[in-house]
Amino acid sequence: GTTLGASAAESGRYFGTAVAANKLSDSTYVGILNREFDMVTAENEMKMDATEPNQNQFSFGNGDRIVNHARNQGKRVRGHALAWHSQQPGWMQNMSGTALRNAMLNHVTQVATYYKGKIYAWDVVNEAYADGSSGGRRDSNLQRTGNDWIEAAFRAARAADPNAKLCYNDYNTDNWSHAKTQGVYRMVQDFKSRGVPIDCVGFQAHFNSGNPVPSNYHTTLQNFADLGVDVQITELDIEGSGSTQAQQYQGVVQACLAVTRCTGITVWGIRDSDSWRSSGTPLLFDGSGNKKAAYTSVLNAL
Ligand code: XIL
Repeated sequence: GTTLGASAAESGRYFGTAVAANKLSDSTYVGILNREFDMVTAENEMKMDATEPNQNQFSFGNGDRIVNHARNQGKRVRGHALAWHSQQPGWMQNMSGTALRNAMLNHVTQVATYYKGKIYAWDVVNEAYADGSSGGRRDSNLQRTGNDWIEAAFRAARAADPNAKLCYNDYNTDNWSHAKTQGVYRMVQDFKSRGVPIDCVGFQAHFNSGNPVPSNYHTTLQNFADLGVDVQITELDIEGSGSTQAQQYQGVVQACLAVTRCTGITVWGIRDSDSWRSSGTPLLFDGSGNKKAAYTSVLNAL
C-alpha cells in the first residue's frame, strides 16, 4: 500500500489517528487525515467533561463533527472514553458514593446509546491502574465507589451498544515485567473467567526515554491476546527523531503484526505540531505535514 491505512488493511488491520475538531478547518491536516488514516479517535471531544458538561445535559456537537467527518470519509471510529478519573466535568469531580456511581453509569449508558452503531470500539474505562510497584488500582473518586466500578461500566456499555467492542485502555502497560501490566492482566483474566463483557485491551504506547519501547512488547501483546481479547495500540507517540525514532516505530508495528489479535494501531496526532506533548517531535509528520523517517519505517513495516 501507499498509505498507512491501505497498508494496514492488507493484513486486516487499521491505522488510525487522534483528531481534534478545531483542526478540521486546516486543509493540510485534513488532507493527511483523509489520505492516510482509516480509523479516528476524538482527542478530547468524547470525554466526560466534553459530553456531559452539566449533569444530565449532554453535548455532542464536537464529537459529532469528528464522527461525521470520519464516517463521511469511510473511516471507522474508536470511542474515547466513557469513564476516567481525569477530564471529568466539574460537577462530577467532587461527587462520591452511590450518587457518583449512578452518575457514571448514566453517563456510560447515555453516551454509548447516543453513538450506538457508529463506534467500532469504546475505551469504556481509561487509566484505572496505579503507576509504580503495587499492581493495584489507582485511587480515584470512581475507585472509591467500590472495586466493581469497572465491571459495572462494562456491563452498562454492553447493554447500551451491544455491537461495539469494549476495551480497557491504559498507559505504561507495555512492559510485561511491570507490576501495572500484571495488574491489568489479572483484571482481564478475571473478567474473562466471570463473563464480564470485555473484548479488547488498549495500550496507549506513549514512549519516551524514561519509558522506552520494551524489547518484550510482543510478549505483552500476545499474553493479553491469549486471554481471548483483541489488543490495540491506541495512542502511539515516541519521543525522539531521525533513524532512532524510526526504528522504535518499526519495532512497535512489528510487535503488533506478530500478534494475530492485534487489530490496529492509532497514533496520537498527525503532525509533530499537533502533539499533546509540550515539546519534541513524537509523530509521523513534521510541522509542515511532510513525511518523516518514522513514517517511512512504519509504512514499510506494515
Ligand atoms: C490528552 C489530549 O491529547 C490533550 O489534548 C488533553 O489536554 C489531555 O489529554 N491518555 C489519554 C488521552 O487517554 O485522552 C490523553 O489525551 C493523553 C493521555
